[in-house]
Amino acid sequence: MQRLDLQSRHIVLGMSGGVACYKAAELTRELVKAGATVQVVMTEAAQQFITPVTMQALSGRPVVTSQWDARAPANMAHIDLSREADAILVAPASADFIAQLAQGRASELLALLCLARPIERCPLLVAPAMNREMWAHPATQRNVAQIVADGAQLLGPGHGDQACGETGDGRMLEAVELRDELIAAFQPKVLTGRRVLITAGPTFEALDPVRGITNHSSGKMGFAMARAAAEAGAVVTLVAGPVHLPTPRGVHRIDVQSALQMHAAVLPLAPSHDVFIATAAVADWRPVQAANHKIKKDATGQVPSFGLTENPDILAEVARLPEAQRPYCVGFAAETHDVVQHARDKLRRKGVPLIVANHGPAAFGRDDNALMVIDEHSVTETPRTDKLSLARALVAAVAQRLPKPSR
Ligand code: C5P
Repeated sequence: MQRLDLQSRHIVLGMSGGVACYKAAELTRELVKAGATVQVVMTEAAQQFITPVTMQALSGRPVVTSQWDARAPANMAHIDLSREADAILVAPASADFIAQLAQGRASELLALLCLARPIERCPLLVAPAMNREMWAHPATQRNVAQIVADGAQLLGPGHGDQACGETGDGRMLEAVELRDELIAAFQPKVLTGRRVLITAGPTFEALDPVRGITNHSSGKMGFAMARAAAEAGAVVTLVAGPVHLPTPRGVHRIDVQSALQMHAAVLPLAPSHDVFIATAAVADWRPVQAANHKIKKDATGQVPSFGLTENPDILAEVARLPEAQRPYCVGFAAETHDVVQHARDKLRRKGVPLIVANHGPAAFGRDDNALMVIDEHSVTETPRTDKLSLARALVAAVAQRLPKPSR
């Protein structure tokens, strides 16, 4: 299922001079694929690195390069471009371009239209790209602090190998990272100032060093919740069982294997969080004792037997913390039948205010799902859709129920 996160968004993609211009080509494709219309504006320096022909072909629109472009109806390209834009993304932003922004200069069309943008309505996102010494220079740092104080949002820079052969801070973020930052910029910031703790994935209960008990949870829903909470402005900690999923940007991830490890990671963190969302499919039981060596098959044909013991219920324990230490708790329930009835039982048994229920076998491993959001008084059904869209709806449902911050 293709989710068009930037559908009906009009983005001005501004490019200043830098080797990272090649990444702006890929970025244009990503933005168009996500449903945006992209108007590319290039400085003279940018055209030394990549041609407007390439950018026109990728964006499907003639590139604008000059404030004297006579195609603009009233010959005011800077006004037209900035009024039409839902956001301006400058990628790459060179040290010189950031200096121009910091000083409010307007000698090139791109700087001019950034200055002319309606500041309340049109976000300006800036993705620096430069050598590490240029980035670290006090003049650049001063200029960056100034443009942030003036309302620009800084994306990156990243760390790593640079075109000059050096390694350090100053690399432009990758195209997909910039795309996701832009998508996040459009999400309502309903969790700003909140701290959210999330468990995700299965747990793995070892029988011996090579075998164990686990389940089919893919972790996709929990990772989508982490991304959606971060997009909504929260500080997010994600405690993940064994899954092969990339960490959403800006999320602090702690990897664990077993239920006991997940329990040990979550309990000390819970009191410093405002929300706890338990999406993990925690194994109910673990072997009483895991063997230190691989259990060998022997010639007698004797089959080993394993005693099991119950794992702690992480969600129920967090929900039992004293009120002053207790985050707002959200549980997930994968059921095969009588979904609402079982979810309500769980709500009461675990003492949590909100349960998100789904039909287990129809959810595991898939990219989409249908959910029921169940509290003491209501059941709200969400139609089947992709897990990130569901996660964003859940984030809104949770944000609505949070007590107002005391300060
Ligand atoms: O009881 P059941 O496993 O169906 O409950 C599911 C909910 O409880 C999920 O939110 C899950 O993450 C959480 N849970 C937990 N620790 C366990 C078992 C379940 O946190 N040991």
